[in-house]
Amino acid sequence: MAERDAEALSDVRIRTARMDDITAIQAAASESWRAAYGHIFAPGFIAGFLNSAYSTSALRAAVAGRRSTFLVAETNGDIVGFAQFGERGRGPELFRLYVHPRHWRRGIGRRLLSHVEMQFLVLGAARYFCTVHKDNVIGRNFYLSQGFAHVGERDTRDEWCMRKALWIPEN
Ligand SMILES: CC(C)(COP(=O)(O)OP(=O)(O)OC[C@H]1O[C@@H](n2cnc3c(N)ncnc32)[C@H](O)[C@@H]1OP(=O)(O)O)[C@@H](O)C(=O)NCCC(=O)NCCS
Repeated sequence: MAERDAEALSDVRIRTARMDDITAIQAAASESWRAAYGHIFAPGFIAGFLNSAYSTSALRAAVAGRRSTFLVAETNGDIVGFAQFGERGRGPELFRLYVHPRHWRRGIGRRLLSHVEMQFLVLGAARYFCTVHKDNVIGRNFYLSQGFAHVGERDTRDEWCMRKALWIPEN
């Protein structure tokens, strides 16, 4: 990471998402999805997915959700990334992590992940997992660089299961 970017990172604040962030989350998701998956999925599929998973009602439920936490990365009043994590039946899980492509490779993804992990640690989680599309090389490299391991036996179709240990339980 360049020194200039490391300095600029101090301007990035990670906080819990609010309802009035939803439009900005939708914009960041749209740009990030197209940049990350444009070579994997057809434009119609991406548009359909965004319309459903990132609809205003879906995001309202996600931001208000009691069983998960939704974080945003904000700089100069702009939402430049977000992460959602929690538990939905398969153990502690990072549901999604996206950074606006204009801000890729500035350490924002790593910062978001650190906040996720601090909160998982407070909850007592020893490890957590997430999934990443097998052809999303940037996403895969990001997770590998952050200490995740690929757990092949838990892969589903095109999704790799990635797991990270936060601490080793004594027994
Ligand atoms: C994956 C993603 C969240 C990373 O966010 P980011 O803010 O760009 O990542 P960071 O700047 O914190 O990078 C941390 C490390 O990850 C690795 N990394 C990140 N982008 C990379 C790339 N394009 N190529 C190789 N390694 C990369 C590097 O090791 C990097 O450390 P370094 O810059 O000091 O070398 C971002 O690319 C993104 O939003 N992608 C689309 C969505 C996605 O794939 N989400 C995860 C799977 S669902």
